[in-house]
Amino acid sequence: MHPTLAMPGHVAIVMDGNGRWATRRLMPRIAGHRQGVETLRKAVRWSLDRGIGVLTVFAFSSENWNRPAEEVKGLMALLMHAIPRELPGFIEQGVALRFVGDRAGLAPEIQSLFSSAEAQTAAGRRITLNVCFNYGGRWDIVQAARTLAERGETITEAALAASLSLAHVPDPDLVIRTGGEQRVSNFLLWQAAYAEWFFSDKAWPSFTADDFDLAISAFQGRERRFGLTSQQVREQAHAAGPVLEGLDDRCQA
Ligand code: FPP
Repeated sequence: MHPTLAMPGHVAIVMDGNGRWATRRLMPRIAGHRQGVETLRKAVRWSLDRGIGVLTVFAFSSENWNRPAEEVKGLMALLMHAIPRELPGFIEQGVALRFVGDRAGLAPEIQSLFSSAEAQTAAGRRITLNVCFNYGGRWDIVQAARTLAERGETITEAALAASLSLAHVPDPDLVIRTGGEQRVSNFLLWQAAYAEWFFSDKAWPSFTADDFDLAISAFQGRERRFGLTSQQVREQAHAAGPVLEGLDDRCQA
């Protein structure tokens, strides 16, 4: 990580590899998820320390209901236990928690937990932590389109984006996926259109601050063109003045 180069403002993470981490240690899969929560707590700290304003994590996908009942039950129980436990620390650190996903499909006690945790952390100003739970990128696009249709609104990119479940934050700059798999898995299908992806072979429970910095370094070493040519990007950087000109050297490297 280069401290003087631009940090990603929004980092999103697919926290994969928990099950394999546990199985390799002859432990039940839920032990991997439990350890995953420990890494998540650290990731909030790493993000705060680096001035990252938004962290979004994929905790439970629309498809995860198809896992063995015992694992699904364990994940729900872990959530019910971990959120109240983490709240005081989050409040102290200025974390605003947001739960993103289809709440109607969740048990009433989980829905109450989400509302209560969001209300208790609403004053957090240092970082927004979006926990995607019962979330899928396709679900999000469909619910946004349905909202517009119900209101009789014209469907435009801006109107759809404003109805998506992450409309309260800018799009992610960097998406990290741990666990060695290199696929999108229905995560942030709309929002990650121009994100840089970083894939790590480390299982999420083993992911460290150094691994996080490696992902940020990779991000900082890439030229984001947003559909433009390299030359246009350089011209824009020059026009923006000396602060961005430093980035230009990196772009040519
Ligand atoms: C993917 O690993 C991970 C998940 C499906 C769950 C991630 C959840 C957490 C880290 C806990 C979040 C909890 C709270 C309280 C926010 P995997 O099980 O697919 O791993 P595998 O690919 O090795 O089987």
